[in-house]
Amino acid sequence: MSFRQIYSFAWSLTGFLWFLFTITTMPSSTSAQESDNIDVPPLPTGPRLRTIGTNIPRIVSRNGAASLTLAEPLAIGIATHTNFHQEPAYQTVAAREYDVITPENDMKMGPLVPNQRGSYDFTAADEHVRFAEAHGMQVHGHTLVWHQQLPDWLQPSLSPAELRSVLQEHIRTVVSHYGDRVAVWDVVNEAIADSPVLFFGSPMRSTIWSRAIPDYVDLAFFTAREANPSAILLLNDYSVEEVNSKSNRMYNLVAGMVRRGVPIDGVGFQGHLRANGLNYCSMANNMQRFADLGLDIYITELDVRLSLGRNGDISPFQSQRQADIYRNVMRVCLEQPACKSVQTWGMTDLHSWIPSFAPGFGSALPFDENLAAKPAYYAMQSAMLEQRTPDDVCAGQDDSMNFLESLFGGIASFFF
Ligand code: XIL
Repeated sequence: MSFRQIYSFAWSLTGFLWFLFTITTMPSSTSAQESDNIDVPPLPTGPRLRTIGTNIPRIVSRNGAASLTLAEPLAIGIATHTNFHQEPAYQTVAAREYDVITPENDMKMGPLVPNQRGSYDFTAADEHVRFAEAHGMQVHGHTLVWHQQLPDWLQPSLSPAELRSVLQEHIRTVVSHYGDRVAVWDVVNEAIADSPVLFFGSPMRSTIWSRAIPDYVDLAFFTAREANPSAILLLNDYSVEEVNSKSNRMYNLVAGMVRRGVPIDGVGFQGHLRANGLNYCSMANNMQRFADLGLDIYITELDVRLSLGRNGDISPFQSQRQADIYRNVMRVCLEQPACKSVQTWGMTDLHSWIPSFAPGFGSALPFDENLAAKPAYYAMQSAMLEQRTPDDVCAGQDDSMNFLESLFGGIASFFF
């Protein structure tokens, strides 16, 4: 090859590289505001949660019998707020990090069928589903039957027969509208009574549904299964994470359902926690008893509320404590092969439900109000990457700790 050929080749190559450099660094046509605040959220460092979760080593045997691990997916998810669709930065982080979304409000009965029986508006709910599909995410539907966020037209004055037909019609309409586009349904939400019901009382919460239709939980699951034979059907509730009187009531209800052949696939532990955390060994034992019934466990609404300072701030100590709670909950789930997902109730503190639900509390989620990842996010990430052995979460725990935690936990949560 002559010097002249080499020279002109070098020039063409330089020209080509320059062309490449110019097109790749050319500013896009988005507005300044978008490129400053929206297009480039402060992305977390390290591997994405959804990437780690696709093939994660899970412990297959507990109680010290073996420490075998099995690569199985663990789904990591968030509840998506209605404002989600106006906020590209929030969407960018969500699509990058998570593989499941739960519409936080838009699939509830009130929002779906607000004005009159039979007149459904799926517009807002459909947007979440389209977003999930566009980003290879799954949808966790929330919720078919609940006693809150009901439409005004649904009055207790309706006869039991009418309420029964409303309940079935609602489940059929919503489940069939989505078909396999919604993989998991919280079929019934918060069905269990909060306080121990003495004497002849029922373990069930008294609601518009339970008062009119004593077997409404079974009915809801049969109807959902008929409408979609392949969806995963869950019973979801709060304060049932540990072995306690409420989770005992849930266990008894669900064990009866399994015995009667009611098509239930799993339970959802909401996981709305405070800074005193949980007894993780008790949580592991609780999960195990549900797993022994052949059911899966989903952590559906995890958040850890913190007591805010006068200026709405939190201390590094609080934020570390919160991170430890997120890490421990992840560990319990990772040690239990029947635990299929960990989903937080929202992604960013900007839209968390906590400040309006529990005034004076907040900062409950893994991303702050500016979408920066908090220690809680990195705790989830590192828990998924670490080496575990069976019974890690029970090591060093005994019942006297349960007692002390339950004694001081409530008081401590006001201060931390
Ligand atoms: C909450 C939403 O986060 C709020 O935006 C709404 O105002 C009320 O409902 N348990 C549940 C969720 O199952 O549906 C609730 O969601 C939070 C508690």
